[in-house]
Amino acid sequence: MERLDGQVAIVTGASRGIGRAVAKELADYGASVVVNYNQSKDQADALVKQITADGSQAIAVRADVGQPDDAKALIETAIKEYERIDILVNNAGVNRDKTLRRMASEEWDEVIRTDLNSAFYCSSAAIPHMIEAKYGRIINMSSIIGQMGNVGQSNYAAAKAGLIAFTKSAAQELARYNITVNAMCPGFIETDMVLALSDEVKESLIAKIPLGRFGKPEEVATFIRYLVTEGQWITGQQLNPNGGMYMY
Ligand SMILES: NC(=O)c1ccc[n+]([C@@H]2O[C@H](COP(=O)([O-])OP(=O)(O)OC[C@H]3O[C@@H](n4cnc5c(N)ncnc54)[C@H](OP(=O)(O)O)[C@@H]3O)[C@@H](O)[C@H]2O)c1
Repeated sequence: MERLDGQVAIVTGASRGIGRAVAKELADYGASVVVNYNQSKDQADALVKQITADGSQAIAVRADVGQPDDAKALIETAIKEYERIDILVNNAGVNRDKTLRRMASEEWDEVIRTDLNSAFYCSSAAIPHMIEAKYGRIINMSSIIGQMGNVGQSNYAAAKAGLIAFTKSAAQELARYNITVNAMCPGFIETDMVLALSDEVKESLIAKIPLGRFGKPEEVATFIRYLVTEGQWITGQQLNPNGGMYMY
């Protein structure tokens, strides 16, 4: 398996959950990692400490990636620190679940801004550097919900489906520069986002997963690392670590 020594990765929303596992995995394979966080500074700092103790480089950078100026500053900080960007994982996301009848426009806007607009803001700031280097790996964290839809998640489903379409267009535009763009569409993964559900909802979800359990953040992280190290001929795709819950 190829290593990532000398490469630089930015992982948005890396203070917790899937993003944290992705940042650790890429660092374990030798990449220098920019650990983006918004509110969880202590967790981001702890991850940086762990990565450096394990022998790789990392910095924590606060940015609300749903804000264009913050996203731009995040990319600029990465360039200032490491002078290149090889890998961008647009992972940051929130959910504000409500049925359509009850959803406020603020709840709609917050999810679209954080889960979808952020990928545009970060990618558009990062790609000039990737184009110059004629190399890049962009992974957009979509979701099974962007493929299936779900009751109470019209905002989240729209954002995640939007990310899939964004991925396909960006992949077509950027292939000529040896930049691949793919969408990761995990099923239900054991993170704060899913563990916050009631036991009853969790049980009913597990009953719908052929492999009979939620996924682990590390299982998504391994897939992303594979895509980065071995996926030179894979672009514009939806990758589906979902326990078989949705067979696309
Ligand atoms: N868990 C699942 O079952 C599942 C399934 C499919 C897809 N996903 C997607 O995977 C991604 C990660 O989910 P998760 O389950 O790991 O969620 P999580 O445990 O709730 O973690 C969310 C992460 O996103 C960060 N974040 C939120 N808003 C941000 C913002 N405006 N700017 C920067 N960072 C922000 C958080 O940082 P702070 O705490 O520092 O604010 C945190 O690190 C999301 O895009 C989610 O939609 C999750």
